[in-house]
Amino acid sequence: MVAQWWRNAVIYQIYPRSFADGNGDGVGDLAGVRSRLPYLRDLGVDAVWFTPWYASPQADGGYDVADYRAIDPAFGTLAEAEALIGEAAALGIRTIVDVVPNHVSDEHPWFRAALAAGPGAPERARFWFRDGSPAGEPPTGWTSAFSGGTWTRVEDGQWYLHLFDTRQPDLNWNHPDVRREHEEVLRFWFDRGVAGIRIDSATMPVKDPAFPEVGESADHPFLDRDELHDIYRGWRAVADSYADGRVLVGEIWLDDPHRFARYLRSDELHSAFNFDFMMRPWEAKQLREAIQSTLDSHAPVGAPPTWVLSNHDVTRPATRYGRVDSSFGFNAKRFDTPTDLARGERRARAAALLTAALPGTLYVYQGDELGLPEVEDLPLDALRDPMHFRSGGVDPGRDGCRVPVPWTRDGVSYGFGDGAPWLPQPTRWGSLSVAAQDADPASMLTLYRSALAMRRSLLRGEEFAWLASAEDVIAFARGDVLCVVNFGAEPVPLPGHREVLLTSAGLDGDRLPTDVAAWLRV
Ligand code: NOJ
Repeated sequence: MVAQWWRNAVIYQIYPRSFADGNGDGVGDLAGVRSRLPYLRDLGVDAVWFTPWYASPQADGGYDVADYRAIDPAFGTLAEAEALIGEAAALGIRTIVDVVPNHVSDEHPWFRAALAAGPGAPERARFWFRDGSPAGEPPTGWTSAFSGGTWTRVEDGQWYLHLFDTRQPDLNWNHPDVRREHEEVLRFWFDRGVAGIRIDSATMPVKDPAFPEVGESADHPFLDRDELHDIYRGWRAVADSYADGRVLVGEIWLDDPHRFARYLRSDELHSAFNFDFMMRPWEAKQLREAIQSTLDSHAPVGAPPTWVLSNHDVTRPATRYGRVDSSFGFNAKRFDTPTDLARGERRARAAALLTAALPGTLYVYQGDELGLPEVEDLPLDALRDPMHFRSGGVDPGRDGCRVPVPWTRDGVSYGFGDGAPWLPQPTRWGSLSVAAQDADPASMLTLYRSALAMRRSLLRGEEFAWLASAEDVIAFARGDVLCVVNFGAEPVPLPGHREVLLTSAGLDGDRLPTDVAAWLRV
């Protein structure tokens, strides 16, 4: 029996460009990560997930892969990646890498060959090249997740499909090369010791080859198509062919929890990010409902729930929870929304304790353990995210949650590296740095360290029971540990307990103040 470490793991997400810069060029890299592994061990994480570290023109932060078997030179070399995987393992930290099956970079050799070969050539069949209408319209009127259309016309008049940016051509998953290549890529990284794969845009790779408009046929033409499950069964067989078992984690944005759970059947993916919980506003009723629906949808397939507060695509929780509307929508991010940062930070602390107490896998995005806010005033000429540009500037983009991590109180990039960082950091970054928070018992970092250590020793099982509580309170038991969070405007009495284990802010006597979470032992 393979130990199922991932069922209750803490997985820390590293966005390599912004974590730590080892060579002083202003861009984070693997040398930087290697130098900070002890920090991650002390934080108490079981695994790290790297957003794509492969060779890429970086048209979409590395989600435009030109070569899956090479590390981007800005980040380092394959030898460094291998060393990193080994060094992390020696500290008890597993490594998960990102695989992007829906598309590649326009600089990928397959796409270059497809362009060079011309209409009708077999090289084009690995992608979706089509003729448009005689009037010069693209083959469909689909809308990209990054705004605008999903087709770009090439010189010879054909159009190619890209659900994301024009520099991310979609692969044709009916082509045998595409399937074979991805299974080989999985083996390539599993053979190098990675413990798992995060699957990008996991509901999107298969298309209806008839290319109907959305809503014209019973199935969606490019989302959540039934044929995907067979692909993931193939991937599961690859993962299971390793004696210690490797893990598949899906990026699955679907509204229907039952459709979601189909990806988690025992011969498909092991786990998937819980975006339903992440998108809900800071309200007891909403979050209680998301927790219950998560438990209900995961139990029948035996998959562990996951808890996610943010990632590299999402407005940071310390900011989001300070807004009047604290929900999140991938295509509904806002500029200039009135935000109470002190409230956001207080709620983000409570959210950390809430999510860390729930049964299943916890994801922590780099910098959330420092309580970093979204950086909303980046100069326009610093922005890089195609979401911003393709929306004509309407969407603020995702650069604001990707600003390099501050490690020290001062310095040219607050210890991120020796050079000016690729995105400017706010002056507040020094006071939020690891050095500033390290020894402060009241800091977010100390809260995370305490919570993760306690979680590891006290919250090992999968047991969970709701406790009766007021409408504005979430309260549940994990064995003899209780977690109580007050979302209401007034302090509430704590339930009976023997010991207060941890709180996200000070108590009011024996009462739990607004936006505070407590872990109690009974
Ligand atoms: C989801 C990734 O998380 C996001 O960063 C990326 O832009 C899209 N997929 C396209 O790969």
